[in-house]
Amino acid sequence: MTEKYSIGYRANTPQKIISVRNLSFSYGNDKSPLILEDINFDVLSGEFVCFLGQSGCGKSTLLRLIAGLEKPSEGEILLDGKPVKGAGLDRGIVFQDYGLFPWMTAGENIRLALEQKFPNLSKSQYKEKTLDALRQVGLDESVYRKLPKALSGGMKQRCAIAQVFAVEPSIMLMDEPFGALDAVTRARLQDMLLELCAVQSPKKTVIFVTHDVDEALLLAGRIIVIGSRKIIYDCTIPDDIKPTRETQFEDINVLRLRNELIRRINSMQSRD
Ligand SMILES: Nc1ncnc2c1ncn2[C@@H]1O[C@H](COP(=O)(O)OP(=O)(O)OP(=O)(O)O)[C@@H](O)[C@H]1O
Ligand SMILES: [Mg+2]
Repeated sequence: MTEKYSIGYRANTPQKIISVRNLSFSYGNDKSPLILEDINFDVLSGEFVCFLGQSGCGKSTLLRLIAGLEKPSEGEILLDGKPVKGAGLDRGIVFQDYGLFPWMTAGENIRLALEQKFPNLSKSQYKEKTLDALRQVGLDESVYRKLPKALSGGMKQRCAIAQVFAVEPSIMLMDEPFGALDAVTRARLQDMLLELCAVQSPKKTVIFVTHDVDEALLLAGRIIVIGSRKIIYDCTIPDDIKPTRETQFEDINVLRLRNELIRRINSMQSRD
């Protein structure tokens, strides 16, 4: 059963942008085991939600369903009140493996995405928007002409994020985007993502999959723990205990929540 952790009252409550209703899912036919069963939750516009849970619990599957890359076996997912019918430019997706075409330069990769969203720009407008997107994620102009193989993992992931932000989706779906990076690069990209989100107007809605409790606490305003087929914990982090990199391991309330999250995650038996 889903439990809520001290959700405070908010004036001017934002609207629901994602509604997951009675969602069940299995890969394959009716006899295939259920991966997700009777999932229900809403995401408010501008929320930064992390899905946490053990390996194999269905985090990526749930994200793929919201992305429209899989169809629910039962139930439905609504975006702004309308059922998801497939992938769309309103949802940008960032995966762990960068998602850049290896035969195209970083600039060409970003331009390709821009062409989907803004089909009628001039050559110079595409270039300007691409360079803007690279700058936003802290990359300089030299990256524009480089192939992904000439970039470090952190640079590739910055490019992938630039590509997604460039098309201005209202929803960002991120599946362990920093999972393959070393600790220092990872911390830098976490900070970059927070800064990028802070300057967006209107605020982006982000769903971010991770199995790292500390990453979730640092990034998220709300954490949803997925257990065996179900949501087992759903907590909105009150503004007054929202951790920063500096306070993350000092604030007693954050440490309590951290312990609680770890306990919940470990309470499930792994499917591996
Ligand atoms: N394409 C597929 N076909 C069949 N089963 C799949 C497929 N993709 C995933 N699964 C199964 O669905 C379950 C959930 O997988 P999923 O990738 O969503 O888990 P996860 O929580 O993202 O795990 P991880 O943290 O390791 O990425 C697992 O048992 C997995 O084996
Ligand atoms: Mg996964």
